[in-house]
Amino acid sequence: MSETAKIELGGNVYEFPVIEGTENEKAIDISNLRAATGYVTLDTGYKNTGATTSAITFLDGEEGILKYRGYPIEELAEKATFIEVAYLLIYGNLPTQLQLDTFRSNITKHTLVHEDMKQFFEAYPAKAHPMGVLSSMVCSLSTFYPESLDPNRSPEAKDLTILRLLAKLPTLAAWAYKNSMRHPFMYPKNEFDYCKNFLYMMFAMPTEEFKVDPVVVDALNKLLILHADHEQNCSTSTVRIVGSSQANLYASISAGISALWGPLHGGANQEVIEMLEKIHADGGDVDKWVLKAKDKEDPFRLMGFGHRVYKNFDPRAKIIKKACDDILEKLGVNDPLLAIAKRLEQVALEDEYFKSRNLYPNVDFYSGIIYKAIGIPTEMFTVMFAIGRLPGWIAQWKEMTENKEPIGRPRQIYTGEVLRHYDSIENRK
Ligand code: SDX
Repeated sequence: MSETAKIELGGNVYEFPVIEGTENEKAIDISNLRAATGYVTLDTGYKNTGATTSAITFLDGEEGILKYRGYPIEELAEKATFIEVAYLLIYGNLPTQLQLDTFRSNITKHTLVHEDMKQFFEAYPAKAHPMGVLSSMVCSLSTFYPESLDPNRSPEAKDLTILRLLAKLPTLAAWAYKNSMRHPFMYPKNEFDYCKNFLYMMFAMPTEEFKVDPVVVDALNKLLILHADHEQNCSTSTVRIVGSSQANLYASISAGISALWGPLHGGANQEVIEMLEKIHADGGDVDKWVLKAKDKEDPFRLMGFGHRVYKNFDPRAKIIKKACDDILEKLGVNDPLLAIAKRLEQVALEDEYFKSRNLYPNVDFYSGIIYKAIGIPTEMFTVMFAIGRLPGWIAQWKEMTENKEPIGRPRQIYTGEVLRHYDSIENRK
C-alpha cells in the first residue's frame, strides 16, 4: 500500500499521494490540492517545495553528498574532463571515446562568434561588469540563429544550439575581459582543449608567445566540473521557468546568467575575495569581522558561508580547499587571503552562532582564491561560475522540455486593498 498524506480542512479529510525518488527522498504530490480543497500552499523562497522531478543531479544537504547522474563529484573532479562532465550531464551517460571525440570536435567548430558581435562589445564602457555583457551577448546570439527561436524545432536543431552555446560562451567571456582591458581580441585556437583555449583567449597577446602552466589548466578544469550543476538552485530554476514558456535556449541561459549574478548566489565568489581583501586591509582582525557577521544590526554577512541546502560541509568546498593548498604551492603563490580565509573558517566553525545555524563554507568560499592565483580578475569570478554551470543549465532545460513540463506559474495569497473606485486627481490627498 503506497504511502499517502492526509490533510484535514474545514471538517473534511483530503488524501494526497506521496512520491519517492531513487534516493529515497519523499514528497507529497499536491498537484490536485486546489481543485480538491480550494487551498494553495505558501512557501516563500520554495524552501520546502519541489518544482519538478529530475534525474540529473542529486545532493544530500545533511550528508554533504553531491552526484551528477549518479557519479560522486569527488570522482569526477579527480578523474574527468569538463567536456566529459558536460556530456554526462546533458546526455545522461559518460561518453565513449567516439562520442567524446565527436562532441569535442563539434564544439571546436563553433567557437567563433559572428564578426558583427564585435561591434556590440565596443559599445560597452571599459568598466562594464562582464556579467552584464555576458547575459546580453548570450541573448543576442539568438538574433544570429533565427532557427533556434523554436526550441522544439527538432532534436538536431536543439543539439546544434547546445553545441553553439558550449562553444561560444568561453569566447564571449574572454572577449568581455579583453574589451574591458581595451586589448585586442584573441580568436580561439582549435588545437587547444576547452580550458586551455579559454585561458589563451583571456591572457594571450598577439605580440607574445602564449605559455600556460598545466597546473593552471588542471585547476580550471576541476573548478568548472565542481560548478557544473547543482539541481534546482536559483539560476537553474530561472532557466527552467523561462524555458517553460518555450522561450529559446539562448534567452533561457541569458536569464540564468542574470540570476547567478546576485551576491547571494554566484556573485558570492567575487564578494568573498572583496571581503577577504577588506579584512586584510583592516589588519586581518578576523574576530572583529565574525562579530559583525553575527550582529543583526550590521548588514555584513560572511560571504561564502551558509547554504540553503547544505547543513553540513559543501562537498565542493572541501575539494576546492584542498585544491587551493596544492595549486598555490605548485605555483609558488603565497596569498595572505588564504590564511585569512582559513582563520575565518576556523573561528566561525567554533562559534555557536554559525554552528547553531549549520553555516559552513560553501563552493564560493575558496574558489576565488584559486581564480586569483591563476590570474582571473575578480570581476570575472562569477563569469567563471557561469561557464562551469552552463552544461547544468542546458541539461536541466533539456530535461524540462523533453518532459513537456507545463509553463511555470506559481500562485499567491493576495493581501492588498479589496475594492476601491477611481477618483479624480483633485480629490486625491
Ligand atoms: C551558491 O542553491 C544552490 O545550490 C546555490 C549554489 C549553486 O551551486 O548553485 O550552491 C551556489 O549560491 C552558494 C551560496 C553563495 N552565497 C553566499 O555565500 C552568500 C552568503 N550566504 C547567505 O546569504 C545565505 O547563507 C544563503 C543565501 C546562501 C542561504 O540563505 P537561506 O537559506 O535563505 O538562509 P537564511 O538567509 O534564512 O539564513 C538563516 C540564518 C539567518 O539568521 P537568523 O535569521 O536565523 O538569526 O543564518 C544567518 C541568517 O542571518 N546566515 C548568515 C549567513 N548565512 C545565513 N549569517 C552570517 N553570514 C552568513 N553568510
